[in-house]
Amino acid sequence: MNFLPLLESKRDGRALSAAQIQHLVTAFTAGQVPDYQMAAFLMAVFFRGMTADERCALTLAMRDSGETLRFPADPRLLADKHSTGGVGDKVSLPLAPLLACLGFRVPMISGRGLGITGGTLDKLESIPGFITALPSERIVEIVQRVGCVIGGQTDRMAPADKSLYALRDVTGTVPSIPLITASILSKKLAENLDALVLDVKFGAAAFMQTQAEARELAQAMVALGNQCGVNTRALLTDMNTPLGRAAGNWLEVKESVACLDNCGPEDLRELVIEFAAHLLVQTGKTRTVEAGRARAADCLASGVPRQKWNEMLTAQGADLDAFTRKLVLDHTAAMVAEVKSAQAGWVSRCNARIIGKVIRDLGGGRLTKQSVISPEVGVDQIAKPGERVRAGAVLCRVHAGDEARAGAAVELLQAAFVMADEPPRGTPLILECLQ
Ligand code: URA
Repeated sequence: MNFLPLLESKRDGRALSAAQIQHLVTAFTAGQVPDYQMAAFLMAVFFRGMTADERCALTLAMRDSGETLRFPADPRLLADKHSTGGVGDKVSLPLAPLLACLGFRVPMISGRGLGITGGTLDKLESIPGFITALPSERIVEIVQRVGCVIGGQTDRMAPADKSLYALRDVTGTVPSIPLITASILSKKLAENLDALVLDVKFGAAAFMQTQAEARELAQAMVALGNQCGVNTRALLTDMNTPLGRAAGNWLEVKESVACLDNCGPEDLRELVIEFAAHLLVQTGKTRTVEAGRARAADCLASGVPRQKWNEMLTAQGADLDAFTRKLVLDHTAAMVAEVKSAQAGWVSRCNARIIGKVIRDLGGGRLTKQSVISPEVGVDQIAKPGERVRAGAVLCRVHAGDEARAGAAVELLQAAFVMADEPPRGTPLILECLQ
């Protein structure tokens, strides 16, 4: 097949048909289109954009380049959440069992952290024995039996995305809305969902720095998800400050369990409840978001999602006794050091970007896809904006592999906290809902 006329059409700004896009993606996945031609296509999309129909065709073609999860008929609808990523963002961990207890099936296919944003799989792998690499048959079996699973994309899921992402990475075509939306949604659509809620973050530690950029991405994903047949909503949420009081893989698992025990930090709980509430409305289980919040909060308070979490862990190979023993430890890193406030006053800023970078450099994140993660490092007891502190009070603790690294991290983390003589103006965590 000669794809040159197709490339010329895209280059000249003409829309391609669904059949042309499907054909190109299928041939590329089969190794029948050379990388230089596909790279030219990606660059043409980068500059010319894509119509709504082209985006839909690209997404579906990428989804159909590999296997999709096939579930038996069941009255429980299939639902999931996707986040564009941030520091301390552990919402998926308590949300999956909560949704299962609210009557959903949750086949949560998640990713790894890269750069300063953490990844759900890295967090879960800090649990003794927990397996994230599951074949699709096992994912379906656990979802049917337990109600939720959190695992990685299988090698056979959306393989076109893997190859296209690698090309985008080396051709300067990553920051393209049609390509980002197709990449994210092709993987989510492979779960065969009924409803999807998106957490599109903006701010210092987010993929999108401004609310306007985040809105543009969210609008594109909501339109595309709905056009592809999945009821999709997005919330725009703040990522200038870390979510919760802990960031770092194992420390975030501990905080997630605290949330399931109904005693975690308020901002984490707010997001978990909010995403559950929207999915309840999206699927017609409650009429209003307020009613959804009340139902989700009651369910969380019942303690049943905490039991569901244990069930999910057992189903995914975790050693529950070892996990329980690890949970009660104050720390698992070799060294813990405190960052203290030099003055009394209010915390007016707690910079998630600085905290994310420190954790990545301590070994909690990846500089390259090959980096090996240290699950025990991180930052906890983080003081948040609006809190009043005395001189000498702890602003956060650093968990590090040795004393030298802990000391260097303490120095860097001083700059993450800005103090003021008056309480700062509060900023909402959830800014907008797009549907
Ligand atoms: N995440 C993805 O999965 N794909 C993108 O293109 C960007 C972020």
